[in-house]
Amino acid sequence: MGMRSLAAVALLALLVLAAVPTEGRSLTSKEKEKICDAGWECSGSKYCCNETISKLFQVYQFEQLFPKRNDDLLAHAQQFWDYHSFITASSVFQPLGFATTGAKQMQMMELAAFLAHVGAKTTCGDMEVDGGPWAWGLCYNHEMSPSQSYCADDFKYPCVDGVQYYGRGAIPVYWNYNYGRIGDALKVDLLHHPEYLERNATLAFMAAMWQWMTPVKKKQPSAHDVFVGSWKPTKNDTEAYRLPGFGATMNIMYGDLICGKGYIESMNNTISFYQHYLDLMGVGREHSGDNLDCAKQKAFNPSAPEYDA
Ligand SMILES: *[C@@H]1O[C@H](CO)[C@@H](O)[C@H](O)[C@H]1NC(C)=O
Ligand SMILES: *[C@@H]1O[C@H](CO)[C@@H](O)[C@H](O)[C@H]1NC(C)=O
Ligand SMILES: *[C@@H]1O[C@H](CO)[C@@H](O)[C@H](O)[C@H]1NC(C)=O
Ligand SMILES: *[C@@H]1O[C@H](CO)[C@@H](O)[C@H](O)[C@H]1NC(C)=O
Repeated sequence: MGMRSLAAVALLALLVLAAVPTEGRSLTSKEKEKICDAGWECSGSKYCCNETISKLFQVYQFEQLFPKRNDDLLAHAQQFWDYHSFITASSVFQPLGFATTGAKQMQMMELAAFLAHVGAKTTCGDMEVDGGPWAWGLCYNHEMSPSQSYCADDFKYPCVDGVQYYGRGAIPVYWNYNYGRIGDALKVDLLHHPEYLERNATLAFMAAMWQWMTPVKKKQPSAHDVFVGSWKPTKNDTEAYRLPGFGATMNIMYGDLICGKGYIESMNNTISFYQHYLDLMGVGREHSGDNLDCAKQKAFNPSAPEYDA
């Protein structure tokens, strides 16, 4: 059978399937679900019925969160990051629920949470500088002095000769296989051209949002899922202290690098970016949600095999 006749059969099957349910029974709530178009920023999804990001989070707020990113003396990615790139990138993920899930407060909280990961990973500030570390998010767009080559044996995404896979982007991407996987998802050849993530801010934000929206492994939740509460922990999860909230987003993004180690500084630091951004966005840190930390959580994906004593 040729492709075309296969397609015809498939289409027929779809038509038959589609025709059956409406006859005998009323539409389920899922089938009745309203779908909206909110212009270029969000279209073709139920999530677009809610307010879009550019309504909730405007250019002045972006400037408040990242005031030092173009600092003449200290910033390392001057004139690279901008609001427009952020919104353009988000248009790919808003229809999937990125900061368009739930009521307005949840939308603002998710923006603050996502941007906290970005800020904590791209800051060049410390307690000594003007405004503290929180004022210096988006100071970098790539790792300055890579300590290694980040090339691992990988059947699907082998390293390309002469290409380096050090950290780049808004939530830095490391390693050949991660560049390969994210490149496939975004339909850009990042395996051959990882440098795109330090040349194109829209793409850099897209790669970060993709990491936020995509589970590390099949059947696991994404950072987005654990944050907005669409994920229900299993018994294994609750036994491992994994519960919905900001803490579990750190677990998914960084695992046991920062989780399950008590109140260590790198974990505290990411949390304080979140709280600082909530304050700046007018939500207030008192609305940071349950399960803010991951001090006790076991990693969803442990970095090394665990051995019984
Ligand atoms: C849209 O917003 C309303 C309340 O503002 C919320 O109840 C609803 O769940 C949101 N829709 C989606 C798809 O999240
Ligand atoms: C940046 O990347 C986006 C997404 O792949 C693409 O649409 C855009 O054309 C790129 N911009 C430039 C200047 O290459
Ligand atoms: C729960 O954990 C046990 C022991 O680690 C494991 O064998 C089992 O597959 C897990 N169940 C689920 C649903 O992940
Ligand atoms: C992290 O924060 C907790 C709670 O706010 C605090 O008790 C702890 O001392 C902090 N840890 C470090 C390393 O500063």
